[in-house]
Amino acid sequence: MTEYDIAVIAGDGIGPEVTREAMKVLGVAGDVYGFHVRGTEYPFGTEHWLKTKELFPDKAFDEVRGMRAVYLGAIGDPRAPVGLVEFGVIMRMRVGLDLYVNLRPVRLYDARLCPLKDKKPEDVDMVIVRENTEDAYTAKPEFVDRGGPDEIASQPMRYTRKGTERIIRYAFELARKRNKHKKLLLIDKSNAVPAQDLWSRVFADVAKDYADVKTEHAYIDAACMWMVKNPEWFDVAVTTNLFGDIITDLGAMIQGGMGIAASGNIHPGKVSLFEPIHGSAPKHAGKNVACPVAAIMAASMMCDYLGEKAAAAAIENAVIDLLRSKRLKGVGTGDHPTNEVGDLVAAEVRKVTARV
Ligand code: IPM
Ligand code: MG
Repeated sequence: MTEYDIAVIAGDGIGPEVTREAMKVLGVAGDVYGFHVRGTEYPFGTEHWLKTKELFPDKAFDEVRGMRAVYLGAIGDPRAPVGLVEFGVIMRMRVGLDLYVNLRPVRLYDARLCPLKDKKPEDVDMVIVRENTEDAYTAKPEFVDRGGPDEIASQPMRYTRKGTERIIRYAFELARKRNKHKKLLLIDKSNAVPAQDLWSRVFADVAKDYADVKTEHAYIDAACMWMVKNPEWFDVAVTTNLFGDIITDLGAMIQGGMGIAASGNIHPGKVSLFEPIHGSAPKHAGKNVACPVAAIMAASMMCDYLGEKAAAAAIENAVIDLLRSKRLKGVGTGDHPTNEVGDLVAAEVRKVTARV
């Protein structure tokens, strides 16, 4: 039986509850499809930081580096300074493991989950490829005359040619492989931020290697508008770290909300990290009301990455069938007890024949 060693960081708030359900489903998928995921749990997150002042020690980081994948529940808690634990845990892995692809599929599983009028599952089916290691996220913040009347704060949007090229190439490959419209959309703001001209030039260069993939371009503001107006025009889109962060929350909403949207932080061929897009929602923590579908879908993405394609598809199809048959009432907070959703999906995975 194939064994996969993964690190499990359940994290803060609702993280542990939704992670438990994702691991439950993963265990059943492994039983059905003949693999075993051996999870090593790490306590990192705000609680751990409050107790020990430790964010992600080097020894643990080195262990994680040797694993096949990392599963992360959620990070963030108002008891810690803004961004501290997010940067110490999530960003440490994104940058330290060089997870340059942030893969965010936006797929509507059931029309009733979509807030847009008259949009059906076939209208909302796209993948946003977000660059994950550069941009303002990893540039140094600078404060001149901090607190003074003439204060200046800056943090550059910094892009390297190599960093831009590898993400654009990944996106072209994906557009080709997905074979939907074989269309790749570049989203930037080069009309107002000329530094992003680098993206336009690299995009045009790489496009020469993918004559079978149609290319399109939209500024980020227009892309937000089109995503709401005509989501059916989207296939694969590639964008910068910051714009990708923003537009994928919009994407999450058109697929049904934060309760369903999952993501992969990937370095092809190396240890990669899978997580729901939602945060830790501290006010819902410990009440068994959080929706674990996004966390379960992150586990499905992890299966896909590990090469367990049938298991990945079975989990996704289980969620689809449960939603379309209304056995899952919805993916909102409190729609079902958290553990009930995990049980429903797990039972369905045992039944579903994967449509790989
Ligand atoms: C996300 C989150 C993170 C980000 C935060 C928690 C740092 O919003 O994964 O989209 O901005 O990337
Ligand atoms: Mg975000």
